[in-house]
Amino acid sequence: MKSTNLSPIRVGLLGMGTVGTGTFNVLQRNQEEIRRRAGRGIEITMVADLDVARAKAAVGEGVQVVDDARKVIANPDIDIVIELIGGYGIARALVLEAIEAGKHVVTANKALLAVHGTEIFAAAHRKGVMVAFEAAVAGGIPIIKALREGLTANSIQWIAGIINGTTNFILSEMRDKGLDFDVVLKEAQRLGYAEADPTFDIEGVDAGHKVTLMSAIAFGIPVQFDKAYVEGITHLAAQDIRYAEQLGYRIKLLGITKRAANGIELRVHPSLVPAKRLIANVEGAMNAVVVQGDAVGTTLYYGKGAGSEPTASAVIADLVDIARLHTADPEHRVPHLAFQPDAMSNLPIVPMSEVVTSYYLRLNVADEAGVLAKVTGILASMGISIDAVLQREADEVGGEGATQTDLIILTHDCVEAKMNEALAQMQALPTVLAPITRIRKEELA
Ligand code: NDP
Ligand code: HSE
Repeated sequence: MKSTNLSPIRVGLLGMGTVGTGTFNVLQRNQEEIRRRAGRGIEITMVADLDVARAKAAVGEGVQVVDDARKVIANPDIDIVIELIGGYGIARALVLEAIEAGKHVVTANKALLAVHGTEIFAAAHRKGVMVAFEAAVAGGIPIIKALREGLTANSIQWIAGIINGTTNFILSEMRDKGLDFDVVLKEAQRLGYAEADPTFDIEGVDAGHKVTLMSAIAFGIPVQFDKAYVEGITHLAAQDIRYAEQLGYRIKLLGITKRAANGIELRVHPSLVPAKRLIANVEGAMNAVVVQGDAVGTTLYYGKGAGSEPTASAVIADLVDIARLHTADPEHRVPHLAFQPDAMSNLPIVPMSEVVTSYYLRLNVADEAGVLAKVTGILASMGISIDAVLQREADEVGGEGATQTDLIILTHDCVEAKMNEALAQMQALPTVLAPITRIRKEELA
């Protein structure tokens, strides 16, 4: 019997919102090609959403729509449950119940997996079912597949990614059009990029969830979002974006995970990136991830990181993987986190104070003799070497007759604890007139 004669695999979808609707539509539109690739049809036969009328209008006749997601999980005809509700609350309970019921699960919910991944993957391993999550990191970009399978020969050195479309959109629009933060955020929400709670985007939490998942897969460590350092873009000022530009850099919110001598770095924060790097030129809601492996060298993955159909593309790729593999012996499937569950590593996450990186500093200072010498003296006393200094004319910064100015300093690499100490000393100088801005700098060479 040809594999394409197998009966379709039946799927239940929880959450008919932005991604749920995209998933349904793409699956309908491309069903014949998908069937030829998967070896059998993939059919969404049951949908749960709180708004039954809206969901019915989206799926049309022939699909059962209910308001209680547990009815989907309890349906013995359903082989795969797609969770597209989001959040850690009901989604966690439903995913665990689906696993317990022996269903394979596909989810785009990075928040859930970054926080409760250990529990969920362990439950799936016990029950011999798959939990697939390509859509959870960088939307339509197949970065999970690349890390877990395509780069499996490599010892991964580091990953740096623009993995939140909303913040990249905000930074791009602020830089290009001089628009205000709030205006651009509203537009990102209107376009469906932002999370239900947009503070997850702008405070770096969403990117933290995603880099936590990539870190686990790259280094074979447990998912541990609670140990990630997370800083968002809300404190960024328009003049920092401008000064960075003048120094040959762009500011991007990067998710970074790196193999270091003392463990694994896991951090999200705004970073100056040399303008000549490809990743510095990723604009709007686009995402990009750079992966450095010891054998392959540097690889770059670029594409839409959010939106209805780009995310659906990743959800459906997971459905096809499951359709192909679900009859295989669980021991012969690709492990959830790339490494065999009994071969995970316990490398520690490096505390932020021990991370080594370089810095951009902006000091608003009194425009008088000796200020620069005092500041550079403090940096020298902490063993921090200066890469470049930019001092603006006082009247350029504060208008004619101004008595204060901006002093911009780029440093070479130093350990974060030393920089924290230097910042405290510089901040205490009477000639430093406002809180010092510190943005980390990544050369990504
Ligand atoms: P939406 O808010 O658009 O959709 C969620 C849907 O779930 C809504 O229709 C909601 O109904 C419904 N829902 C809420 N509670 C329940 C429940 N108990 N039972 C059944 N349905 C329920 O979210 P998105 O589609 O944008 O996101 C879904 C997931 O995908 C999230 O985890 C998100 O982080 C992730 N993701 C989203 C991307 C994007 O571009 N949007 C990209 C990558 C990942 P109601 O509206 O009535 O509350
Ligand atoms: N809110 C997320 C973003 C959606 O802006 O990237 C995709 O995960």
